Amino acid sequence: MDLQGIKDHWQTWAKEYGTDLRATTKGVTAKALEVDALCRCIESLYGADAAMKVLEVGCGNGVNCFKLLERFPKYSFTGLDFVPEMIESAKSVKSELDLPDERITFGVANVMELPTDLAVYDLVITDRLLINLNTTALQVEAIGKLAKHVKPGGHMIMIENSTTTYDRQNRARVLAGLPARTPYEFNLFFDEKEIIAGLAKAKLELVDTEDFGSLHDLVLYVLVPMLNGGVVDYDHPLVKAATDLSIAVSAEEKNSFGSYGQNRLYKCRKLAAD
Ligand SMILES: C[S@@+](CC[C@H](N)C(=O)[O-])C[C@H]1O[C@@H](n2cnc3c(N)ncnc32)[C@H](O)[C@@H]1O
Repeated sequence: MDLQGIKDHWQTWAKEYGTDLRATTKGVTAKALEVDALCRCIESLYGADAAMKVLEVGCGNGVNCFKLLERFPKYSFTGLDFVPEMIESAKSVKSELDLPDERITFGVANVMELPTDLAVYDLVITDRLLINLNTTALQVEAIGKLAKHVKPGGHMIMIENSTTTYDRQNRARVLAGLPARTPYEFNLFFDEKEIIAGLAKAKLELVDTEDFGSLHDLVLYVLVPMLNGGVVDYDHPLVKAATDLSIAVSAEEKNSFGSYGQNRLYKCRKLAAD
């Protein structure tokens, strides 16, 4: 899909679903896992008591920023998204919660054309943003642009879909007698070889990866469909149980369920100033 088509898609969902989580995902349980993984990663980097500055690009209607602000009340958050309706929704939640600008701000921006006066942050986050760029070259370019807004010694956390783990998940489906799935036409999953090679150019070092969604995705996309004629059922009680178990286990040990989740967390450190 071309870039305008991708933007149109997100604009449609923003208008249809407003402040609801559904504007940015069909997966309530997957979102709970993403937020948990982000919180654990940030806590391990900076703890909860510091006053860190965080930027999320592709923030949608602000779900991550609001959740992280609850968990890290001393941090300040900036959310940017290229769909004005997403940002209007984020701002309306902000005013409902009566949150001041010092704690959280939102603005309209395309990751490929970030504002020239955008600050430098302790931490920059993407969560299923870069998979909306339709070539790997553009994804690498965007990582370079984002990395310019990370302080030296600061971090960039990307939660993005990977072909590596998606292929493993699909292999499990095929072994179970199910057809392989294909990504949405508005998504291009990470080609990790190219992406990881591109990190060095952005002066980023890959410190860690986490497969926080493996058990969840095996249950949602393989095991439940094996039992019910191939249907992916987001509301199946086992999916919620897998989510709860994953969160509990991950608090003690990460990556316990293999590499079958389509979302991966990439923790990167900025090595030097630009
Ligand atoms: C899958 S949603 C994720 C939203 C949010 N990160 C979350 O996890 O809840 C992807 C978001 O990225 C935004 N987006 C896609 N391409 C973008 C671009 N080039 N620049 C800025 N935002 C973009 C979309 O408008 C959408 O809100």
